[in-house]
Amino acid sequence: MPTTDPSTNPTPPGSPTGPSTHTKPTSPIQPGSSTSPSILITNIGELVTNEGGRFTSVTGAALVMTDGRVAWTGPAAQAPAADEVVDAAGRAVLPGFVDSHAHLIFAGERSAEFAARMAGRPYKAGGIQTTVEATRAASDAALRANLQRLTAEMLAQGTTTFECKSGYGLTVADEARALALAAEVTPEVTYLGAHVVPPEFARDHAGYVDLVCGDMLDACAPRARWIDVFCEDGAFGPDEAAAILAAGQAAGLGARIHASQLGPGPGIQVAARAGAASADHCTFLTDADLDALTSTPVVATLLPGVEFSCRHPFPPARRLLDAGATVALATDCNPGSSFTSSMPFCIALAVREMNMTTEEAVWAATAGGARALRRPDIGHLTPGARADLILLDAPSHAYLAYRPGVPQIAAVYQSPHPTTPHP
Ligand code: NIG
Ligand code: FE
Repeated sequence: MPTTDPSTNPTPPGSPTGPSTHTKPTSPIQPGSSTSPSILITNIGELVTNEGGRFTSVTGAALVMTDGRVAWTGPAAQAPAADEVVDAAGRAVLPGFVDSHAHLIFAGERSAEFAARMAGRPYKAGGIQTTVEATRAASDAALRANLQRLTAEMLAQGTTTFECKSGYGLTVADEARALALAAEVTPEVTYLGAHVVPPEFARDHAGYVDLVCGDMLDACAPRARWIDVFCEDGAFGPDEAAAILAAGQAAGLGARIHASQLGPGPGIQVAARAGAASADHCTFLTDADLDALTSTPVVATLLPGVEFSCRHPFPPARRLLDAGATVALATDCNPGSSFTSSMPFCIALAVREMNMTTEEAVWAATAGGARALRRPDIGHLTPGARADLILLDAPSHAYLAYRPGVPQIAAVYQSPHPTTPHP
């Protein structure tokens, strides 16, 4: 039985080839049959399983994966035999991070805007237009190269599932192109034609909403799973947002929303009424918003990279958690408000700046993201789950916040199976 030392194989991060991913092509798991070698990871210092829908971890554990699924977890002493054995040597194993909010189809960068903010200027939603111009002018190859660079960054930092939005094209052709590119790298593709109103519609806001709900939706819906709208002053109002989500839902898409990022607003109520999977940002919450997030299944997705990069107050995570809301953490990776692809960074911010416990933050970055994407197959490591997992170069999940900014992902295992989820 071969034994693998993770310090030499799988490949450590930081090497030219990045982390190891096990992506052997296999068929779905069949009871009693096995079509690919089974892998046993043993001597796990802390195994985060998220069993039972809450943060759950066990020490002295082992895990077996077969055919891209978790087949067994339990005490290391009782581990079954497997074709390959990885000695975790006391390291922690966690579900791969689920980054449920990212804008990865863009060209150009806005570091000058960031520097100006750090010098005291405010964040303005209008900065999006700078990226729209650069994105429209970019070739498919340039957009794809940027996308692939960012997805490699994500994987190296332990993200095994991510959502990807359009929203920097804002024409029928450019939005459809963005979604086609996104679909090359993830099943979690989101149509965000309603990011902002582009300048050519500056005098015809209603005409742009009609386009988003009409020809643009027709071109985009077949390529997407989700529809999103930026419901905020300077972007789209509550009636427009509700109409846009309803049109998307009629076309078979699931709803999500950008809400209450820059100030209190109606977006969370719109999300609740639409039955959205998630309301994202939630930085400014009214009591009614808190009620909506605790009395409906809408996940509150917090994006602390934005507050870091815009020097805004962090979202009230404690208030949400103490009231019983379901909280997810995501990066919002985009060139304007949050140019980080790092879920460990977001976990560290959530713990240090938002008073989340290390357990809450890791749950929100794994199972919480899975809830926000309505994906019961990820975000946990119980038998039957996708074998998407991280071997941490540390003995416990707490090190993700305890050692901020330090690369600690020793290896990433990613199930080879494609997913074709439905809203
Ligand atoms: O989620 N809020 C709207 N959209 C992005 C920002 C995009 C940008 O500034 O380019 C966000 O923060
Ligand atoms: Fe966003």
